[in-house]
Amino acid sequence: MKFFVDTAELSDIKELASFGLLDGVTTNPSLIAKSGRDFKSTIAEICAVVPGPVSAEVAATDYETMMREAEVLRKIAKNVTIKVPLTLDGLKACKALSGDGTMVNVTLCFSANQALLAAKAGATFVSPFIGRLDDIGLDGMELIREIRTIYDNYPDFNTDILAASIRTVNHVKDAALIGADVVTVPPAILKALVKHPLTDAGLATFVADWKKTGQSIV
Ligand code: E4P
Repeated sequence: MKFFVDTAELSDIKELASFGLLDGVTTNPSLIAKSGRDFKSTIAEICAVVPGPVSAEVAATDYETMMREAEVLRKIAKNVTIKVPLTLDGLKACKALSGDGTMVNVTLCFSANQALLAAKAGATFVSPFIGRLDDIGLDGMELIREIRTIYDNYPDFNTDILAASIRTVNHVKDAALIGADVVTVPPAILKALVKHPLTDAGLATFVADWKKTGQSIV
């Protein structure tokens, strides 16, 4: 399973990349607005830190403008992945861009049929939003399960399931159990994955007992 971080905050991205566990980054217009920084230079800086796919989302909703924006964004770096919304115009842009060898992330996926269309359009990634479905009383993880089944039925599909809108550590575990290819996780949740009270308690005991030996390794 690949781990992406879902943020436009460069300090968080640098810190997480330093652990060697980061495979990519996803951003969206809301995350860029939250960062308060310039979009294109932020994407360029992220791409220089993380060699894996970095999603940069088009702002337009019509095909022609999406394509013009994608043209600008994909020139920023080789690892820019163009993020398009799951609309007919977005799918048309996906088909054109992926046919051209550009990585495309089709975002705002809320149904299995939408994911089917994204795969037909040649998407590199489809982003089903788990948390936002849970927010309205539906089961986001069920969508991941349905998409996994559909994609496995058609081995000629080449689209990775990128589980998005992750709100809890259990979302990560459940997406992994189902077999999502990628998970994009906010920095705080990514760091929380390592936490277990028995690890902390066990380590405290080992450190204390080691002190008693009076030895040192180096
Ligand atoms: C994915 O690419 C999106 O940026 C993100 O996961 C959306 O998450 P949210 O529903 O917490 O905003």
